[in-house]
Amino acid sequence: MALHLGDTAPDFTAPSTIGDLSFHDWAGDSWVVLFSHPADFTPVCTTELGRVGQLQNEWDARGVKPIALSVDSAEDHHAWRPQIEAFGSTTVTYPIIADQDKAVAELYDMIHPGEGDTSSVRSVFIIDPAKKIRLTLTYPKSIGRNFDEILRVVDALQTTDRAAVSTPVDWRQGEKIIVPPTVSTEDARERFDDVEEHLPYLRTARVRAGS
Ligand code: BEZ
Repeated sequence: MALHLGDTAPDFTAPSTIGDLSFHDWAGDSWVVLFSHPADFTPVCTTELGRVGQLQNEWDARGVKPIALSVDSAEDHHAWRPQIEAFGSTTVTYPIIADQDKAVAELYDMIHPGEGDTSSVRSVFIIDPAKKIRLTLTYPKSIGRNFDEILRVVDALQTTDRAAVSTPVDWRQGEKIIVPPTVSTEDARERFDDVEEHLPYLRTARVRAGS
């Protein structure tokens, strides 16, 4: 069954590099970036898992727990990890799920047979502390993802949740947000700084620190 934005992320238990993992319990009150990759000991995946390790301080700063998944064994994940760390000049402290029976990959629709075989494609799920799916992305096996973009979306989700606003194209933390159409310009000037009316339906503003 396809998962949609707003659905509760299905719970599961699975072996991983930190032992048997119960997904919802492990997630706790954190945001989660669950991402699958096709196979261990492969080039694109090695660059991706290294990048996620390099960004550990960025995940921590946003209250995000990353977790990887492939259909390889935990033994393979453990043997591969030093190679990822050496290539990426980093450490991989986040767990890697060993989904050998493909149960999680099937639950999250991570297997796309048109992409070559029955390993998982490069799926990403951003899951909020209420366990709701807030973003899904699927990349083909041959294309490495941009985890800076995933951090950018986490920033946008956390900002739009906090301030009840939207974000414009290519928005980055600290830049001006979009005032919702339901808020009058007068009310916007009470709530936000630097309100600008570009078009009657397009107003930008700056969220105040701490709000
Ligand atoms: C890779 O990580 O390089 C890769 C893995 C599976 C299929 C294609 C590429």
